[in-house]
Amino acid sequence: MGIEAWYMDTSDEDQRQPHKLKPNQPVSLETLKNLGVIHWKLNADIYDDDPELQLIRKEQGYSYMDIITVEKNTLPNYEEMLKVFYQEHIHLDDEIRYILDGQAYFDVRDKEDRWIRIAMRKGDLITLPAGIYHRFTLDETLLVSTELH
Ligand code: LAC
Ligand code: NI
Repeated sequence: MGIEAWYMDTSDEDQRQPHKLKPNQPVSLETLKNLGVIHWKLNADIYDDDPELQLIRKEQGYSYMDIITVEKNTLPNYEEMLKVFYQEHIHLDDEIRYILDGQAYFDVRDKEDRWIRIAMRKGDLITLPAGIYHRFTLDETLLVSTELH
């Protein structure tokens, strides 16, 4: 299965809503790839002993891996963190995230500065290239993800 992505509307409703255009304007994997966004679908249930994940980490040189749980009830500064994550930014390193549970959105700007929303679900591993404008939000209350590099 591929990943679902679409061009966003500009409404100012809650960032956790899908923000699809009407009619929806899907974004293909090919378009994402041309922006340097790479996606893998893995079996998150076996992440701690997954040969496929091990191979990707080896090939891409991702030696670091840290698990982050984003949950309203356990994270004291949850609302604040969500606001920070949703601020558009760039960095010098690739951003690599693997969703172990829950759901989230990554938004990236295309070459014409239009926002593309990428729906991340359990088992989605994504790399955003260094220098791409992006932001991040949840669409539900819980997210367990890993940071790789
Ligand atoms: C980060 C994500 C939230 O930079 O974009 O950690
Ligand atoms: Ni980032």
